Amino acid sequence: HTGAQRWVPDRGGMRALKAALPECRGCDLWSYAEQVVPGEGPVRARMMLVGEQPGDVEDKQGRIFVGPAGRLLDKALVEAGIDRADVYLTNAVKHFRFEPRGKRRIHKTPSVGQIVACSPWLRAEQAIVRPSLVVVLGSVAARALLGTGFKVTQHRGEAVELPDGTPAMATVHPSAVVRSEEFRRDFALFVDDLKAAVALLP
Ligand code: URA
Ligand code: SF4
Repeated sequence: HTGAQRWVPDRGGMRALKAALPECRGCDLWSYAEQVVPGEGPVRARMMLVGEQPGDVEDKQGRIFVGPAGRLLDKALVEAGIDRADVYLTNAVKHFRFEPRGKRRIHKTPSVGQIVACSPWLRAEQAIVRPSLVVVLGSVAARALLGTGFKVTQHRGEAVELPDGTPAMATVHPSAVVRSEEFRRDFALFVDDLKAAVALLP
């Protein structure tokens, strides 16, 4: 079982990758979502930020990090002195997973099987962008990039490495900050981690 691999083009760069993405049937999530949400940003970005999966708003608009978590990420990036237009943003899983509840669609964490199925897209994006630093946002992205044993809460803000040797840093997911009961503290900690990421850039 190879998940998305057979839909990932092996040449043609980011244009080919984005053209192929909507055809993916690497797991079942495509059939419930409105649309796939591609990564966004310059192919020469020095920093790649990896989130979890599109949310309800992203699924409707087809753009990454445009909902509540995205607004928080935008504010935190500004405070950390990072221009969103300079970074490549993507998700570990490219389709929205949800549970219908009445008229609402409630976010559901992607399974390990879905994370693994979608990971060929993430690997292909990393191979094209070749970022100097990968910022891992939350435990789903950590599962995709650092393995199931990695605990974000224990290692947030630390310099780590992906298995391929790429410098990386993990922090919490912006939606965890949105939901936090200690919002001011957790927002400041998130900004601190993003500043630490900037300091890790070569
Ligand atoms: N959360 C994510 O991880 N990615 C998005 O695009 C939106 C919310
Ligand atoms: Fe393909 Fe990923 Fe969508 Fe599953 S979630 S269908 S693997 S793009």
